[in-house]
Amino acid sequence: MERDSLIFDLIKKENERQLHGIELIASENFVSDQVLEAMGSCLTNKYAEGLPGKRYYGGCQVVDEVETLAIERIKKLFNAQWANVQPHSGAQANAAVMLAVLNPGDKFMGLDLSHGGHLSHGSPVNSSGILYHPVAYTLNPDTGRVDYDNMEEIALQEKPKLIIAGASAYSRDWDYARMRAIADKVGALLMADIAHPAGLIAKGLLNHPFPHCHIVTTTTHKTLRGPRGGLIMLGEDFPNPWGYKTPKGEVKMMSNVLDMAVFPGTQGGPLEHVIAAKAVSFGEALSDSYTAYVTQVKKNAAVMARCFMDKGYKVVSNGTDNHSMLIDLRTKVPEVTGKMVENTLVKADITLNKNMVPFDSRTPFTTSGVRVGTPAITTRGAKEDLIETVVELIDEVIMHIEDDKVIATVKEKVNRLMKDMPLFAW
Ligand SMILES: Cc1ncc(COP(=O)(O)O)c(C=O)c1O
Repeated sequence: MERDSLIFDLIKKENERQLHGIELIASENFVSDQVLEAMGSCLTNKYAEGLPGKRYYGGCQVVDEVETLAIERIKKLFNAQWANVQPHSGAQANAAVMLAVLNPGDKFMGLDLSHGGHLSHGSPVNSSGILYHPVAYTLNPDTGRVDYDNMEEIALQEKPKLIIAGASAYSRDWDYARMRAIADKVGALLMADIAHPAGLIAKGLLNHPFPHCHIVTTTTHKTLRGPRGGLIMLGEDFPNPWGYKTPKGEVKMMSNVLDMAVFPGTQGGPLEHVIAAKAVSFGEALSDSYTAYVTQVKKNAAVMARCFMDKGYKVVSNGTDNHSMLIDLRTKVPEVTGKMVENTLVKADITLNKNMVPFDSRTPFTTSGVRVGTPAITTRGAKEDLIETVVELIDEVIMHIEDDKVIATVKEKVNRLMKDMPLFAW
């Protein structure tokens, strides 16, 4: 068959973009060659509905071994008792948990979307907000941190069946023990969505959701540095064959209820090529060099937050505990929007995303803030000195947002800086 040069030329172009630019989107990363290789393998040809050893198709003996390895490795990485590695994405993992533990119309609590929560934690345009009844907790306006007293008050009043810890744009650690106490008071299940900081949690750089959280979901492609995907884990609360009373009143094992919610509840056949790539990345995450990597991610983020603050920018909550931060532009450049910064930095080959800041007066399409993170730039080998330079360059663009000459000079500097940095350096 003729090679599809149209698509492969575009892939080459995207590779060049990734190679030459500075990547600061907090949810992105660069996978290793072996993760890419597993993803592009013949495993994509295989249908494997079901679970290892219990499939609806023949010929699954090899993918059974692949999926079992992925499960064993992720359990070891997070000290989990059980895992399902089939969710195609983080949002799919969350949808499966909700299908498993809620009835349509049931109340659940998550962080307000405009305060850093994720769409799948109750947005009115996501199935979580369409099928169930979301109630939001918020950040404290003075500290920029989750207001646990406010959370408790709302939980006592609303009696949600499920409480979700975790966010898309929140730079502070979570008090899972406090949240479990709140959940226990109202008889709710506690779920942590650790999509963003999973890698830092795995290596003990942040609080661990186990043993406090009943259920943990994550993506595999952010700090965890695997292929795009999701997964679900259980801790010690539901040892098999502990009976869990489902929302429909049946007594079943929680692991079975979650397995069924993934397939056939929300998905069809698992992506075994992606599961193989997940297994490879979990193997990498178990290594010492990954520990060194996430340690550097956290160090780089702390330096980045300090550099932005030194330049007069407001960093929400005045710093970061993890890999990311939200810059509130209103303090230093009130007339500049997040959208303007995102679009102008792209011209200088620096990529980040506009983001609402807590109590934002602008819309999600313009925003008063940007979100930045260090996972991807650290994978390329960045240490603290490069991070200081990156903040200098961003500030130069923001302070000359309409000056094409300055933008072109910054772009040259960016390309020069990234020239000798491989996409995967660890
Ligand atoms: C906290 C959180 N949960 C879930 C998701 C969804 O992940 P995916 O894009 O893989 O569906 C994200 C993505 O950014 C996220 O930040």
